[in-house]
Amino acid sequence: MTTGITQDISKVATALQQGLAVGIPTETVYGLAANGLNEDAIASIFSIKGRPTSNPLILHFFSLLQAQPFVEAFHEDLLLLEKNFCPGPITFLVPKTGLVPELITAGLPRVAVRFPSHPVLRDLLASLEFPLAAPSANRYGAVSPTDAHQVQQQLDGEIPWVLDGGLCSYGLESTIVGMEEDKVVIYRHGSIPLDELSVVLGYIPAIKNQANASPLAPGMVKYHYAPNTPLKYFENSVQAKERVGYLFIQHIPEGFPPMQCLALSQEGDLREVARNLYRSLIEMDAQGFDELYIEKPLPEGLGLTLLDRLNRATAKFG
Ligand code: TXA
Ligand code: MG
Repeated sequence: MTTGITQDISKVATALQQGLAVGIPTETVYGLAANGLNEDAIASIFSIKGRPTSNPLILHFFSLLQAQPFVEAFHEDLLLLEKNFCPGPITFLVPKTGLVPELITAGLPRVAVRFPSHPVLRDLLASLEFPLAAPSANRYGAVSPTDAHQVQQQLDGEIPWVLDGGLCSYGLESTIVGMEEDKVVIYRHGSIPLDELSVVLGYIPAIKNQANASPLAPGMVKYHYAPNTPLKYFENSVQAKERVGYLFIQHIPEGFPPMQCLALSQEGDLREVARNLYRSLIEMDAQGFDELYIEKPLPEGLGLTLLDRLNRATAKFG
């Protein structure tokens, strides 16, 4: 099988109806999608990604209405978030009904549902009669792709199509939330930062995303999002060296060769840093440097999400 990049939604819909997995654009990162109600199609996602079936998948719906048959209850605080942020980059962990295949939830009591905003994906979802199960379209443990070409590079020969929706506008995965003791809890920092959720809720949700919190906590394997080239945090004591690549948030310090450096945002805007992060990591990874260094973002707003990903990406090389 060769993997084509296409803008033709009907070709991709046909492949999905046949039970095949395909690459899809979302506003966060590209996904590896299949019919979320077809056990064989779901199973193929795990084998293509090399992901253990103990790690459950998000179901993507056009809207809350389509998700209703699969969801037992949607707490009013989650409804409030849904009203404010959906369609958009937030995922809800909610009690499931018997219609959700076991493989989707890895036997857990809740199902993860998301209502994406990417217009191309929304057109695709509107043309289908089933939800799309989709993890990020990277190989297990690797950096998530944020354009169609990077999906093709990671999964070439494994899927017939990548649906091209351009560059992901957020560039980081969705924020995952659920309820515990009548309050919203954040299970994964994501594209919607903690402070924006707090403003809408009128309280600050607890964060339960520690690698060691519980094996059932979502997506919280310790090493993740990692390039092949060893990645470390940049400290001020780090000197410019040959054959080493540097990723800075905004300013490239004096004495660092521009050919080895990349600024993630000219304006120092965290939305732009987020949008460029994974793509830049994948690009720098391909350049054959011995090591990569990346500047640490401040732990505020989207910086919390960036830090979460970079802590996991650098943990492998610590
Ligand atoms: O932005 C996103 O959410 C992207 C795009 C493609 O939608 N998807 C994504 O999926 O990041 P994935 O599989 O790479 O990460 C979803 C995380 C997983 O780590 C999984 O463990 C957790 O959500 N998760 C999914 N269903 C769950 C469930 N029923 N209970 C607990 N955790 C769950
Ligand atoms: Mg992922």
